[in-house]
Amino acid sequence: MKILMICLGNICRSPLAEGILAAKLAARGLSDWSVDSAGTGNWHVGSAPDRRSIEVARLHGVDISEQRCRQLTAQDFTEFDRIVGMDEDNCKEILRLAPAHLRAEAKSKIELIRDYVQPNAALEVPDPYYGTMSDFELVYQLLDEASEAMLDKIAPQKLT
Ligand code: 4NP
Repeated sequence: MKILMICLGNICRSPLAEGILAAKLAARGLSDWSVDSAGTGNWHVGSAPDRRSIEVARLHGVDISEQRCRQLTAQDFTEFDRIVGMDEDNCKEILRLAPAHLRAEAKSKIELIRDYVQPNAALEVPDPYYGTMSDFELVYQLLDEASEAMLDKIAPQKLT
């Protein structure tokens, strides 16, 4: 299973989503799963995550400092099984960037991350870019909750 976390800039929310899910994959021993992240926009390509995302992750024991920003590509729509957005506008933009011949398939791959917590409520992970550290902490908590719920739903359950 290959999961791609998406936000707008790929410097605040989706790097955290990638780091949090990667830690959970390791904790569950899901070594053949992978997670990556990208942005719909290209403003920050090549940059490290926002220092506030790096700091909030570090406070929770997750290191995202080595990640580098990249933009969503056409190839991602074939490469990844699930393409996970942070809010409804983000999901619309992901679909708009899908190559025309992959649009139907893309529709079935694109998911709103907090739908795993509460389906069809259009709950978002708010953009913290113009916010404070407490906005980044909220983003961390929302992503932690949603990615745990994602794995509870789609990961194979361990036989005990
Ligand atoms: P992100 O936050 O989508 O969570 O990475 C943003 C980062 C940068 C910008 C917007 C949102 N920006 O406009 O540069």
